[in-house]
Amino acid sequence: MKKDAFLPYTISVEHLGKTYKSADGQALVALKDLSFEIQDGEFICLVGPSGCGKSTLLKILGGLLKRTSGAARIGERSLDGPGPDIGFVFQAPTLLPWRTILENVLLPTEIRRLPVEQFRAKALELLAMVGLAGFENRYSSELSGGMQQRAAIVRALVQDPPVLLMDEPFGALDALTREQMNLEVLKIWSRTKKTVVFVTHSIAEAVFLADRVFVMTPRPGKIDEIINIELPRPRDLSLINTDKFGVYASRIRQLLQAKGDLS
Ligand SMILES: Nc1ncnc2c1ncn2[C@@H]1O[C@H](COP(=O)(O)OP(=O)(O)O)[C@@H](O)[C@H]1O
Ligand SMILES: [Mg+2]
Repeated sequence: MKKDAFLPYTISVEHLGKTYKSADGQALVALKDLSFEIQDGEFICLVGPSGCGKSTLLKILGGLLKRTSGAARIGERSLDGPGPDIGFVFQAPTLLPWRTILENVLLPTEIRRLPVEQFRAKALELLAMVGLAGFENRYSSELSGGMQQRAAIVRALVQDPPVLLMDEPFGALDALTREQMNLEVLKIWSRTKKTVVFVTHSIAEAVFLADRVFVMTPRPGKIDEIINIELPRPRDLSLINTDKFGVYASRIRQLLQAKGDLS
C-alpha cells in the first residue's frame, strides 16, 4: 500500500449528509452526499452561498454536531465528538470578558482538566507570535477586534492540534486588518504544518490562502467543484494583483453566480 494511506490526520468524508429537524417536525436537508479527502497539512477554503451548509460541515468535522448519514473520519478516528486533535475558531472571538487574555487562551486546557501550568509557556509564546506580547493580562474590552480574534486563534492553537477549523474568522474585520490576519494565518500554517479548513465568503481570501478551494452549491450543500490554486508560496499581498490570481477569482465567481449569489 502507498505510505500516504497511513498519514495520521487525513480527513475523509464519505457520502456525508445532515438533515435538521425543526421543533414542528419539519426536515431540512442541509448537506447531501458529500465525499472528499483532505490530506495532512493542506490548506482548504470552503466557499458557497449563505445557508449552503458551510458551518454545518465545519461543525461536523469538529465533532460539534452529529451527521445524519455517511462517514467522517480524521485519521482512524470517527468524528463523533470533539477531540484534542482539532482546534476551532468561530466567527466571533467569544472571549470571556471577566478573564484576562491569557486566562481565556488557557480555558480549553482547564476544561479538559489538563495541567494548565504546562501550557502557560506555550500560550505566551503563541501570543507573542501573533503580536500580543504584553497584552496577556489585559481584558478583551481593552483589545481591538483584530487582536481579540488573534487571541481566539491562539486559544485554538495552545494544545497544538494538527487540524484547525476556522468558520469565517475574519468576517467582522475591516479590509486592512483582514489582510494582515490572512498573512498571520499563513505564517502560523507554514510554521506549524497544520491542516486548515477555512470557511469564507471572500473569494479573494479563499484564493490567497488555499491550496484548494471547495466551491459548494446552494442548499442542500454539495461540493460543486474543487479548484487547485497553483500559486507559489510563500505568498504576499502583491499576489492579489497578478493575472493568475484574477483568473482563479473569476472562475470561482462564475461558479457561484451560476448557482445564485454569494452572501
Ligand atoms: N440548528 C439548526 N436547526 C435547523 N436548521 C438549521 C440549524 N442550523 C442551520 N440550519 C439550516 O441549515 C442550513 C445550513 O446552515 P449553515 O450551515 O449555517 O449554512 P452556512 O454556514 O453555509 O451559511 C440553513 O438553511 C440553516 O437555516
Ligand atoms: Mg456559516
